Amino acid sequence: MSDLYCVFGNPIGHSKSPAIHAAFAAETGQDMIYEARLAAVDGFDRAVSAFVAAGGKGANVTVPFKEEAFRLATRLSERAARAGAVNTLLFDGDGILGDNTDGAGLVRDIADNLGYSPTGRRILLLGAGGAARGVIAPLLAARPSSLFIANRSADKAEALAAAFADMAAGQAGLPLAAVDAGSFAKIAGMRFDLVINATSASLSGQSVPLPPGILAEAGLAYDMMYGKGETPFMAQAREQGVARCSDGLGMLVEQAAEAFFVWRAVRPVTRHVLADLRAKLGR
Ligand code: ATR
Repeated sequence: MSDLYCVFGNPIGHSKSPAIHAAFAAETGQDMIYEARLAAVDGFDRAVSAFVAAGGKGANVTVPFKEEAFRLATRLSERAARAGAVNTLLFDGDGILGDNTDGAGLVRDIADNLGYSPTGRRILLLGAGGAARGVIAPLLAARPSSLFIANRSADKAEALAAAFADMAAGQAGLPLAAVDAGSFAKIAGMRFDLVINATSASLSGQSVPLPPGILAEAGLAYDMMYGKGETPFMAQAREQGVARCSDGLGMLVEQAAEAFFVWRAVRPVTRHVLADLRAKLGR
């Protein structure tokens, strides 16, 4: 019998994860089934229990259950503990392992697919919600020269910077990444190489209130969101003259590949899967 996996979310109808994992399984010759499962907003624990009882081996978790998955896990990877959220569950004889592959997926997409290594760069991370928190540890592990977390509510950005300060200073033998945080107004006059949008502004079609000029030296503007066309943040970055802009479709594929590796210990090649998804979105 094929091993069973799924993604839990609400809503879940439009999830691309089943198609991505089916392609990975075919490419790597893994005998597995991967389904989308709708969990009731107040029924995540029940949905997971039923899935485990049915023989489920692992699951992805998406909106709005990543924090609940974090609480449900009986063990956490270090990156999930740092993120405060879980997007990958592994059910084994020892209970439930909670992992988070979002940040690794982001860094892999930026460094490998887009060829823009974060190492030594001045990074600006926009947003201080769950999406931002989930990617900070892997970004710092890539050893940027600095990381500034900017958010509409400055206090949330400052709290995040404080939560990760030990990581910036704690990498023995490596140059320290200067981690700072504040409001969008605070970055006026500063310059960055890599700008990552982790706000949900694009979801509501809004642009981020960036001071003029801060993207003048940026080599890559990355929106963790994706949609049919250019996101509002990508348009904003292009208008400010950024040479290269990307949406988060590659991050979606890479976080899936990282989860696949957690479950199967096999790393799928992602290039064709990403190209197919882009073609389906008409790009
Ligand atoms: P997620 O899990 O997607 O991170 P979240 O935790 O609700 O969702 O966080 C949303 C983030 O987007 C926050 O950083 C929010 O800023 P505030 O903390 O000030 O609320 C940011 N955000 C949402 N809409 C925005 C907008 N129109 N302009 C700028 N930032 C916005």
